[in-house]
Amino acid sequence: MPYPYVLLSAAVSLDGYLDDTGPERLLLSSPADFDRVDEVRASVDAILVGAGTIRADNPRLLVNSPDRRAARVASGRPEYPLKVTVSGSGELDPAANFWHTGGEKVVCTTDEGAGRARSLGIAADVVPLGPALDWRRLLEHLHDVRGVRRLMVEGGGTIHTQLLQQGLADEIQLVLAPLFVGDADAPRLFGPGGYQGGRLRLVETRRIEDVVLTRYEPTAPGAGPLPVAADRHWLALACELAAACPPSRTAFSVGAVVVAADGTELARGHSREGGDPVVHAEEAALAKIDPADPRLATATVYSSLEPCAQRSSRPAPCARLILDAGVRRVVTAWREPDTFVREADGSGLLASVGVEVLVLPEYEERAKVPNSHLTAP
Ligand SMILES: NC(=O)c1ccc[n+]([C@@H]2O[C@H](COP(=O)([O-])OP(=O)(O)OC[C@H]3O[C@@H](n4cnc5c(N)ncnc54)[C@H](OP(=O)(O)O)[C@@H]3O)[C@@H](O)[C@H]2O)c1
Ligand SMILES: [Zn+2]
Repeated sequence: MPYPYVLLSAAVSLDGYLDDTGPERLLLSSPADFDRVDEVRASVDAILVGAGTIRADNPRLLVNSPDRRAARVASGRPEYPLKVTVSGSGELDPAANFWHTGGEKVVCTTDEGAGRARSLGIAADVVPLGPALDWRRLLEHLHDVRGVRRLMVEGGGTIHTQLLQQGLADEIQLVLAPLFVGDADAPRLFGPGGYQGGRLRLVETRRIEDVVLTRYEPTAPGAGPLPVAADRHWLALACELAAACPPSRTAFSVGAVVVAADGTELARGHSREGGDPVVHAEEAALAKIDPADPRLATATVYSSLEPCAQRSSRPAPCARLILDAGVRRVVTAWREPDTFVREADGSGLLASVGVEVLVLPEYEERAKVPNSHLTAP
């Protein structure tokens, strides 16, 4: 289930509104920030907005700078990013600017909405995604069928709220504008409901004229069989740690991170760390955590290679250490090949006793890089 990297972009008033209720779009950003947004647009494969934003603002969603468009073309990309809108009803205005400017357009909609959009003669590829709209399915479609690797989402609030609540946003770029809207009927950026992501990680703050750009990433692991964006971040970190292992001809290079349910990193480890020639990554990470730490019961272990089920160098394999630590969720990139152990099945062993094991094969290549000398045919 590979998805694009999803970047949410919005400007908001000090009292948390996206717009006022007047007929014109309220300009929240400053000129230099509009230029920054143009730069971000130029860097992505697709820009997505909800049908409500097309109705309210009639946006064009272009890359305005000719130099940035030329650079896209020179690097083999289309001049403009793909434009995507999301509509349940298919009630779209065929005269809206969205359809008549820029490059390719897609309407992601329901089966019923597709019939309506087509009957209205919308000048775009209309994609029905089932009886109701499912964000994971939509992201998979953009990734697999459209080749979208980076997706910029430019609102409105309904869309931002759903992507965050479902744990599908990899990054938020939020611009805080120094003004108040003060109208309870105006659209808010984030609506009520349960949010995934935990306490977000602040990755950047930047003053741009009189507005402030803040960038955040989610940190909290998912809780079940569906990966959230933070799961991908932590697994990517485990793969980076694998690359830092002292090389060996007789054992894999693996990285592991243990993360609490609220997104706090409890420990990390990698193979052969600290001069121990046989220590495994999960073992090294778990050894740094107090076994009585109550957060272990709801923690997730990320490991670039699935935890081992058999080993000769120590009495207990990592799958056993994970069970003994009380961890109930494991995310891994790569199932263990037969290189050292035949029919290794750490994932199966863990799953057989009720541990949630997720394999994200889109990270397998990264996990294999520091082990290529062991797996080459
Ligand atoms: N300040 C900023 O950065 C910024 C950026 C963008 C927008 N805005 C403002 O935000 C406001 C619009 O926000 P909004 O929340 O009303 O609209 P929106 O998020 O742009 O779009 C909502 C629409 O998207 C479709 N949709 C969303 N989730 C769906 C789902 N799960 N299933 C099916 N359809 C789904 C529905 O379309 P159908 O109704 O067709 O079914 C829904 O009405 C405007 O006032 C605009 O100015 C501000
Ligand atoms: Zn192990």
